[in-house]
Amino acid sequence: MASLGLYHLLFFLILQLSTGDDPIGQYCDNKSFKNNNLHVSINAVLADDLTAKASIGGFATTSSGHGDTLLYGLAQCRGDLSAEHCSACITNASKALPSLCPIQADERVWYDYCFMRYDTSNLVGDSDTSYALILYNVENATDPEEFDKEVGLLMSEVRAMAVKQENGGFGKGTSEFTPLVTIYGLAQCTRHLRPLTCAQCLSSAVEEYFAEYCTHRKGCRVLYI
Ligand SMILES: *[C@@H]1O[C@H](CO)[C@@H](O)[C@H](O)[C@H]1NC(C)=O
Ligand SMILES: *[C@@H]1O[C@H](CO)[C@@H](O)[C@H](O)[C@H]1NC(C)=O
Ligand SMILES: *[C@@H]1O[C@H](CO)[C@@H](O)[C@H](O)[C@H]1NC(C)=O
Repeated sequence: MASLGLYHLLFFLILQLSTGDDPIGQYCDNKSFKNNNLHVSINAVLADDLTAKASIGGFATTSSGHGDTLLYGLAQCRGDLSAEHCSACITNASKALPSLCPIQADERVWYDYCFMRYDTSNLVGDSDTSYALILYNVENATDPEEFDKEVGLLMSEVRAMAVKQENGGFGKGTSEFTPLVTIYGLAQCTRHLRPLTCAQCLSSAVEEYFAEYCTHRKGCRVLYI
């Protein structure tokens, strides 16, 4: 496959924020170790480099090792997270990641507020929409047709925000559906993606999955890697 490229997209729509302590998803590519010293690179990427850097800026990529032990890492927090919460989330992710799928060379973990990944392939590149994690609320909205229309408008707004250069891939908004029901929308790409690539990825999430999984739902998220 041409693009084992970096990609992380968060796209969600929720009525209530969850507490965010446990991973909401994980992915193991079952790519086995070619060299046992890869553990050394994993530790370096996770502990020293990525956690420290991402905790400060909310986003980081890094690499460690060479040849068979060359490993790339990426971490990103939700665009509106404080440095303190970002650091806590990334720290948890870095601890969880190595044990989620042991001796695999491509692992990814999602939390509500951050995402972390490492891989022996270079993560910097095109978007990768080959694997999607979809989470939705099984409850349906009241007045679902109108609700879906409102969701569509809100998601267009937050997508437009996310692809503006100055917003660093992040867009968020709310809509007062009724006096008692507020709809929250959010779209996020990994920070270093070009706006056009970000726009294509967000559009793919909506076109490929929203109709099938999110129709009428009170909450729904599509996450790529
Ligand atoms: C990190 O993990 C600890 C222990 O499991 C948990 O109490 C804490 O809430 C987690 N923090 C985040 C931000 O996920
Ligand atoms: C990796 O292996 C696990 C456990 O055997 C399996 O559940 C998972 O689907 C595999 N992942 C891929 C991408 O093949
Ligand atoms: C919610 O709406 C979806 C999409 O129309 C439908 O498939 C599902 O059965 C509905 N669920 C409930 C609990 O009404």
